[in-house]
Amino acid sequence: MKLLRRTILALTATSLAVPLALAQPAPKLKVGLMLPYTGTYAALGNAIENGFRLYVAEQGGKLGGRELEYFKVDDESSPPKATDNVNKLIKRDQVDVLIGTVHSGVAMAMAKAAKDSGTLLIVPNAGAGAITGAMCAPNIFRSSFTMWQSAYAMGDVAAKKGHKTAVTITWKYAAGEESVGGFKEAFEKAGGKVVKQLTLPFPNEEFQALLTEIAATKPDAVYTFFAGAGAVKFVKDYAASGLKKSIPLYGAGFLTDGTLEAQGAAAEGLSTTLHYADNLETKRDRDFRLAYAKSYKLQPDVYAVQGYDAAQMLGIGLNAVKGDVSKKAEFAAALEKARIDSPRGTFTISKSHNPVQDIYLRQVTGKENTFAGVATKALADPGRGCKM
Ligand code: PHB
Repeated sequence: MKLLRRTILALTATSLAVPLALAQPAPKLKVGLMLPYTGTYAALGNAIENGFRLYVAEQGGKLGGRELEYFKVDDESSPPKATDNVNKLIKRDQVDVLIGTVHSGVAMAMAKAAKDSGTLLIVPNAGAGAITGAMCAPNIFRSSFTMWQSAYAMGDVAAKKGHKTAVTITWKYAAGEESVGGFKEAFEKAGGKVVKQLTLPFPNEEFQALLTEIAATKPDAVYTFFAGAGAVKFVKDYAASGLKKSIPLYGAGFLTDGTLEAQGAAAEGLSTTLHYADNLETKRDRDFRLAYAKSYKLQPDVYAVQGYDAAQMLGIGLNAVKGDVSKKAEFAAALEKARIDSPRGTFTISKSHNPVQDIYLRQVTGKENTFAGVATKALADPGRGCKM
């Protein structure tokens, strides 16, 4: 009797165990979104999240066979709060992957925490060179750009237009300084001269005194890096000061991306360089733009594309490791040989994990950054200081 009971129990256990094991779904992949949801870059953070979620939705809600669970932190574009904020995701929420952020100072703190903890990080915007330079790591990737890429391309364009002198104006932090550095490198190599470098603290928008200084200096051209709400204010102030009529304003394309509704006529005609434009007229981009507009009742911008591609890169890596993020070498190898089918055009990932991509010249016409040609083909950031 005893034996019979044991046999029945054993039989029941095995017959139950098999279907249970089969039915067990892979645990959800914990995705930590650390983005600015308030402050001058709030619209950029929202566009990145929208783009990310759009790609995931297109894949039926799963990447690498796993459903996603989101954990969100508003980083406020605040470098002093960055380490605490990223540790909420790494230590408290124990996320499998970090997606963030917009501001370079905050992103560098994220890169340090990712490197120390081994957590996978995909940067969907911040352009500081160090993230895929001196701080590079096998588990850190970028779906966006380095500041140098768009800036260097514009230095060339400005020199070819025949300008000999330029004043630069930006926020005094890594992104602004590196954008100006890239512009200056190309502009001076081509025979131009940056005669003055003006800065103000991030995210200050009191431009008036600096605009007066530009008027007094009378350069051939002005080059700038501003983005988000600060870019809206700067472009409006530049036009209102009367300078737009006498001194052409150039910028990295962030100056006019996601901002044209708010800038209105003040932005008309501005030339910028960036890895995206509003009318690329490819099927890939048209499909993306339609899907984005349908989902969010908004036009996409470069930030939406970068968020979409961060999800796309995560999907490529996860497919290669069948959803197992602990297989870091295989994850990285898959991305290093991938061709990413982005709305911006196909790009590849450099050895230091930054996109190798075309930089477009664009000109504002109405509410669009209209494609005006390829400024630099397949531009790779040199990844200075990266040892992996
Ligand atoms: C940056 O801080 O790296 C940054 C911020 C906003 C942009 C581009 C770069 O639009």
